Amino acid sequence: AAVRRATFVVQETSYTRLCDTKKILTVNGQYPGPTLYAETGDTIIVDVQNKGNQNITLHWHGVKQPRNPWTDGPEFITQCPIKPGGRFSQRVILSDEEGTLWWHAHSDWSRATVHGAIVIRPKQGTNYPFPKPHKEVPLILGDWWKSDIEEVLQEFIRTGGDPNASDALTINGQPGDFYNCSKQDTFKLIVDYGKTYMLRMINAGMNNILFFGIANHTFTIVGQDAAYVKPFKSDYITITPGQTLDVLVEANQPPNHYYMASKVYIGAGLAPFVRSTTTAVLEYRGNYTASSPPPLPILPNITNSTAPQSFSANLRSLASADHPIKVPVNVDQKFLFTVSVNFVPCNNTTDCRTANNQRFRASINNITFQSPKIDILEAYYRGINGVYGDDFPANPPLEFDYTADNLSAALRIPRNGTEVRVIPFNTTVELVYQGTNLLRGIEHPMHLHGYSFFVVGTGLGNFDREEDPKRYNLVDPPLVNTISVPRNGWTAIRFTADNPGVWLMHCHFERHITWGMEMTFIVRNGKRSEQKILSRPSDMPPC
Ligand code: C2O
Ligand code: CU
Repeated sequence: AAVRRATFVVQETSYTRLCDTKKILTVNGQYPGPTLYAETGDTIIVDVQNKGNQNITLHWHGVKQPRNPWTDGPEFITQCPIKPGGRFSQRVILSDEEGTLWWHAHSDWSRATVHGAIVIRPKQGTNYPFPKPHKEVPLILGDWWKSDIEEVLQEFIRTGGDPNASDALTINGQPGDFYNCSKQDTFKLIVDYGKTYMLRMINAGMNNILFFGIANHTFTIVGQDAAYVKPFKSDYITITPGQTLDVLVEANQPPNHYYMASKVYIGAGLAPFVRSTTTAVLEYRGNYTASSPPPLPILPNITNSTAPQSFSANLRSLASADHPIKVPVNVDQKFLFTVSVNFVPCNNTTDCRTANNQRFRASINNITFQSPKIDILEAYYRGINGVYGDDFPANPPLEFDYTADNLSAALRIPRNGTEVRVIPFNTTVELVYQGTNLLRGIEHPMHLHGYSFFVVGTGLGNFDREEDPKRYNLVDPPLVNTISVPRNGWTAIRFTADNPGVWLMHCHFERHITWGMEMTFIVRNGKRSEQKILSRPSDMPPC
C-alpha cells in the first residue's frame, strides 16, 4: 500500500452563484474541494493549513482510521480546532474501504462549502466486481446559501426554530438551469453513446435527504459507503446526507441532452420547507439537434416515503467469495437508542422566537449532547477528569410507546450532557435506533465514526425485542457508515468494536447536530500492542 500526500489550504475565496458574489471558506480555493485519490489500503497524509479567519477541523467521512482517532477530525471529540495560522498533518488511514467516500469540515456549519470526494480504487492486481466503466465522475450534491453560512447558523441558534432553507441545491457546486444567472455554469457530463459511466455520488448537503435521477436513463447501483453491493437497477436514487453511492449509467439512449436532477425528499405527512429542484446535463457527443429544454427525470414525490424505503431495501452486501463479510452473529452488548427532536421551553424570551416560547432540541436516549471545551480523546488519553461522563445509557431512561400518535412533547424533556458509552475492545455490538413520534417524527441519517456497520434490520413502529430479531438479515446486510432511521420506525445495526478510540456518533442533518443529536463511544484498547490507540501526534492542535 502506498503513502500519498496532499496539501489542503483552508482559505476564504470569492464565488459567484445565484447572481451574487460572496466569500466562502474553501480548500485550495476550490468549491467543491479537491478530490483525494487512493487505492485500497493506502495512507494519505494531508497537510492541513488554516489560512482562513476561523477555527476549523477536517474529517474523512467513512474512513475507519484504524487505531488512529487522532486525525479523525470532529471538533472537541478527537481534537481542538486548527486556529487561523495553524496547521495539522492528518493521516487518513484506509483499510478495506473501496469505492467513494468524502471529506468535510467538522466544526460549526463550515462543511457547507468545505468538502470534497475521496475516490478509492481497487489496489493493483484487483478489479471492480463489475466491468470497468469508461469514465468515473464524482457527483457531489450540496446546498448554496446566499448569506454567509456562519450567519445562517447564528440566526438558527438564536431563533430556536428550523434553519433558513438553502437558496438552491447544487450539483458539483452549481445550482443549474432553473436559477437565474446560473445557466452558463450548469454542470455537464459529456458522454459517448454506448459507453458506461460511473457516478460517484455524495450527498454533501446540510439538511436534506435527496432524490436524484437522469431523464430516460436507468442506474445500476454497485456500491455504497465504499463497500460493494449486489448490483440492482433503479430509475432514481435516494441519498441521505453523509451517504455515498456508486452508480453505473450506460449512455444507451438516442443522442440528446438529458437533465439530471436532484430534489428534496421530506417524508409523508410533513410540510416541505424546500421545494427546489436542481439540474445538471448529460450531453451526448455528436452532431444532432438537441431537444430544448432537455427532458427532465421523473422523480418520486417529495412526500413519498415508500420510494426511499424500497430503494434502500435493495442495498445488499455483495457477500461473495471475493468480497466476504463478517456479520457478528453472537452479540455481547445490546443497545437501544431513541433518536428524537424535542420541543422545550426557552430560557429567555428575547432569545427564542418560535411559537409558545418553545424551541427545538434533539436528543439520543433523552440526552442533548453538550460539546466539551477540550476534546474527549485528549481527556481520555491523559486521564483528565471532568471533561465527559461515562453514563450514556444503554437503553432509554423511560420506556413508552415511542411511535404512538400525538406524543406530547412534554413527555420527554431531554437533559444536557457530555456522556460517552465505553465499550471493551472486540465487543460485538447490536445497536437499535428507535425513532419517536415526538413532533410527529422525522427520519434521521445516523452516522458512526471509526467503523462501518451492518444494517441487519429495519421496520416501522416500535422495535420488538422478541420478534424483530427473528427477521434479521445476517446473510448479506449492507455495510455502511450512515443509515437513515425511518420516521416512526427503527433500524438495527451490528459491528465488532475492534477499532480502539474515541468515536463520534450523530445524525448527519446539520440542524440536528446543532440541536444536540450526538453521542460518543469510547472503545478501549485491547491487550496486545497492535490493539491499542497509536501514540499521540506531536502536532495536535492545542486547545
Ligand atoms: Cu460526515 Cu461526523 O460526519
Ligand atoms: Cu436527525
